[in-house]
Amino acid sequence: MSSRYHEVYGAWQANPLAFWAEAAREIDWIKPPQKIFDPDGGVYGHWFPDATCNTCYNALDRHADNGRADQAALIYDSPVAGSKCVYTYGQLRDEVAVLAAVMQDLGIAKGDRVIVYMPMIPEAAMAMLACARIGAVHSVVFGGFAAKELATRIDDATPKLILTASCGIEPGRIVKYKPLLDAAVELSACKPQNVMLLQRPQEKAQMIAGRDHDWADAMQAAKAAGKAAPCVELAATDPLYILYTSGTTGIPKGVVRDNGGYMVALKWSMHNLYGIAPGETFWTASDVGWVVGHSYIVYGPLLHGATTIVYEGKPVGTPDAGAFWRMIEEYKVSALFTAPTALRAIKKEDPDAKHLARYDIASLRTLFLAGERADPATVEWAEDILHVPVVDHWWQTETGWGIVGNPVGLGLLPVKHGSPTVPMPGYDVRIVDEAAKPVEDGGMGSIVIKLPLPPGCLPTLWKNDERMATSYLSEFPGYYKTADAGYRDADGYLYIMGRTDDIINVAGHRLSTGGMEEVLASHPNVAECAVIGMKDSLKGEAPLGFIVLKAGVDRDPADIEKEIVALVRDKIGPVAAFKTAVVVDRLPKTRSGKILRGTMKKIADHDEWTAPATIDDPAILDEIGRALGRKGV
Ligand code: COA
Ligand code: AMP
Repeated sequence: MSSRYHEVYGAWQANPLAFWAEAAREIDWIKPPQKIFDPDGGVYGHWFPDATCNTCYNALDRHADNGRADQAALIYDSPVAGSKCVYTYGQLRDEVAVLAAVMQDLGIAKGDRVIVYMPMIPEAAMAMLACARIGAVHSVVFGGFAAKELATRIDDATPKLILTASCGIEPGRIVKYKPLLDAAVELSACKPQNVMLLQRPQEKAQMIAGRDHDWADAMQAAKAAGKAAPCVELAATDPLYILYTSGTTGIPKGVVRDNGGYMVALKWSMHNLYGIAPGETFWTASDVGWVVGHSYIVYGPLLHGATTIVYEGKPVGTPDAGAFWRMIEEYKVSALFTAPTALRAIKKEDPDAKHLARYDIASLRTLFLAGERADPATVEWAEDILHVPVVDHWWQTETGWGIVGNPVGLGLLPVKHGSPTVPMPGYDVRIVDEAAKPVEDGGMGSIVIKLPLPPGCLPTLWKNDERMATSYLSEFPGYYKTADAGYRDADGYLYIMGRTDDIINVAGHRLSTGGMEEVLASHPNVAECAVIGMKDSLKGEAPLGFIVLKAGVDRDPADIEKEIVALVRDKIGPVAAFKTAVVVDRLPKTRSGKILRGTMKKIADHDEWTAPATIDDPAILDEIGRALGRKGV
């Protein structure tokens, strides 16, 4: 089948407003948009400025009321908890309406922030949808972050309420959420008035009288009293959520998402990018703590009337490397969306895909990958074993949906390994040099997007228009800076090669090395430090810390290295996957004092390197090599 991509992208280029007006017809508005885009609103403009709507209504009620009440909306499958269940659209709407009423009884109203700190259980999705129902702004915090990271988010979002559970379950370990939450509230200046906690059978949390409420009791009482909250009318431009993501410092960026534009973009993507029909099962194996989970575990599939899956497990070890194939067979999954690292984990354990032979995965039409660069070797392996198109696509927390992809619903374009293919309608992607001048095809440069960004992308950072402008819009006037570098080939295919800032990508998780350096520098024995991302065959990259000790510190360096590893886990969390710190005598620097992180990375990666001409003392590079050798790097 030939692809309609060029025709559709051309239609958007010819008349972007008509394109998005047409896409907006897929949404049930309370007041439909008369104006499609207001260039004068917000930092760079606002989509659907005069429309009103409710995202929860579009995700649940309209399906429940229009023939899908008995269709599965959300399937929960947890190999770690040993439980499974299914919520139909009717059941999910009813549960969410009750939860929203419970939140209203706790004083939550439109515009109030609610932090959701929960594992991968159905109640996490219900919490998000209940906020959407009453216009509260949710901010989901990933369970692998430590108390300090949670505290930073509490102080920025200033929530009135936190929704949580007693624990998460990692293979071989129960992650007790309540002590982390209590420690975070202790650390934060903002003290949320209420906490609602779901007690899981694996761990009973201690409750604080007056502040903490039992989730199950509150739901039971509300049901007995016949409570259910209706959907409230919101401006399309009202915030739906804040999602914090790593910035270039230890302070994360609060990416804001609106209601109307996000719905329009996600709905468009479900059919056109992912090729999914309502009623089909779309499984995203990620976590609701990440943008991929927000857009394609919760909102996208439900807005589309598809069936989504909340999977509380891993690709390997729960119980084996056949876990994903079991899920595809059991739930007749049409498309799976995961990160390349998950496939590398499966490949490492089961290179010949022996587990696959035990399952019938005939329902699977497409495998989608995102979150990190899809290395060609992994893509080829997946193609060989699955016999379906393996489609890479590139996006960011900030954009909320695919910037560059291969539009399955419009007809697949030829796949080129190493490229996520072509820009989606809405995105005018350019490759530029430092002076914002276009770079010729084939040449590396900064990847920028011509403003305005399409519906679904961040309108701003939470209560921080200025940081929005300085982080993304000021370096290349008229463009959004993605902070990714790459090139375009003669066929218009884009190649995303790496970040231009200090962000590294560890197992599909976005982490700031600057944030880690702040933690290393806080150790009393550390004079100077540098953190780089070194190549890792499983996780793509792994953080590696170099530390120079203060003069006069007379301790075993191995002890300090261990303390540093523990400190990062304690301050940022296990998700940082920071396992290696190396004490060195000196850090290599330029004559002007800039640390040569790029050269250190090449040494750690065993790539070819030469001493930069500007280096102060080339002998230090050999010292670095020897120190890494001692650590077995
Ligand atoms: N709560 C608490 N801890 C968590 C957690 C959570 N939700 N998620 C991960 N962690 C912990 C892990 O247990 C691990 O702890 P450890 O150091 O004690 O072993 C640590 O954080 C690092 O996690 P991770 O980097 O994910 O490594 P892993 O060895 O546990 O798993 C993979 C490796 C590849 C199996 C896993 O990263 C994976 O499934 N990735 C899929 C990609 C993905 O979901 N990306 C998200 C964006 S699309
Ligand atoms: P996050 O905001 O956590 O989704 O991380 C976004 C970053 O991950 C991007 O800026 C890229 O650096 C990287 N990334 C995501 N998807 C891809 C992809 N398909 N190819 C290459 N890099 C990717």
